[in-house]
Amino acid sequence: MSQRTLVLLKPDAVRRGLIGEIVGRIESKAGWAITALELRTLGRPLLEQHYGEHADKPFYPPLMEFMTSGPSVVMVVEGERVIEGMRALAGPTDPIAAAPGSIRGDFGTIVRENLVHASDSEESAERELKLFFPEAV
Ligand code: PPS
Repeated sequence: MSQRTLVLLKPDAVRRGLIGEIVGRIESKAGWAITALELRTLGRPLLEQHYGEHADKPFYPPLMEFMTSGPSVVMVVEGERVIEGMRALAGPTDPIAAAPGSIRGDFGTIVRENLVHASDSEESAERELKLFFPEAV
């Protein structure tokens, strides 16, 4: 089943020069394609909508601080079961719990600086794609 998902390479991934590494892993998956890609410093209003459901959580202020701290890569990835597949490629939220071979498992240690975001369901993907690429949907 072909799907579309929103992927963010967060400011830590950009600062650490990992764009090529992570994009390469996505491109090498058979049947997936990056159909939009942009380097963009994300503003608070957009991030408040994106992370709105977490506004009451203790990690929300540091998450917002971190996500506005520099440019991110904003991408649309399309392909076979890409929503579930991108989540597996990223690994779990806490990089220490992430297996080697996943992006977070190979490059992360800090929960806040976990390198990548990928939509967690079809509903989230639809909502997030509209938010980040309103002109394309
Ligand atoms: S929850 O509570 O299970 O719904 O939260 P979770 O899905 O694990 O995380 C939601 C997003 O918040 C980020 N996160 C954090 N940021 C900063 N500090 C801490 N401690 C922290 N814990 C979680 C997490 O990476 C998720 O962002 P995305 O962009 O979806 O990865």
